[in-house]
Amino acid sequence: MPNTKEYVIAPSILSADFAKLGQEVDDVIAAGADWVHFDVMDNHYVPNLTIGPMICKALRDHGVQAPIDVHLMVEPVDRIIPDFAEAGATMITFHPEASKHVDRSLQLIKEVGCQSGLVFNPSTPLSVLEWAIEKVDMILLMSVNPGFGGQSFIPHVKRKISAARDLIDASGRDIRLEVDGGVKVDNIGELAALGADTFVAGSAIFGEQNYSQVIQAMRANIESSVS
Ligand code: DX5
Ligand code: ZN
Repeated sequence: MPNTKEYVIAPSILSADFAKLGQEVDDVIAAGADWVHFDVMDNHYVPNLTIGPMICKALRDHGVQAPIDVHLMVEPVDRIIPDFAEAGATMITFHPEASKHVDRSLQLIKEVGCQSGLVFNPSTPLSVLEWAIEKVDMILLMSVNPGFGGQSFIPHVKRKISAARDLIDASGRDIRLEVDGGVKVDNIGELAALGADTFVAGSAIFGEQNYSQVIQAMRANIESSVS
């Protein structure tokens, strides 16, 4: 089990004010966030359209140094992977349903120098990991159906967090377990206790005036739940 310093809070900029995105990212990192969670939607794999590599590069050019956690909700995935690497992505995750060749996509992410991860929708089984776990740096469990911020946490995903934690521990590999969707101050501690170590939160952080207060409250709840 990771110690509290190893818990990562990754605000999803989907809920940020896009008219001042650079400032929003600066503010949330200054408020104590660890990573920037970057939701890429294509109006095809998911019914919404968001941001692409140009915006990722713009954040790097603006001076953002924090890891950028690119969550691809696009189909197909391979064409866009090198563009995100070029644009400064640190990790790139994708949904196995969106790639015809999961192993090839994972390899491609490694080849372009990024960390790789697979994302599991609430009803997608973890079974693909049987033949993919050796090529992932992160497992991302969706606790809402992908496409929109501000949805409610789907409770059965708690059981999936425990199952994914068991798989990671059994593999003996250094793999992060990230949860995305409906993560709030009130449930983050329980999710950490179940074995998650990386938390995406969009509306819970950007929906408040004081980012630092929310992030501190999240860390305090993680700490008290795991100690
Ligand atoms: C949903 C996205 C999430 C979303 C989370 O498809 O992957 O990252 O922004 O938003 P909240 O934290 O508001 O549920
Ligand atoms: Zn996401």
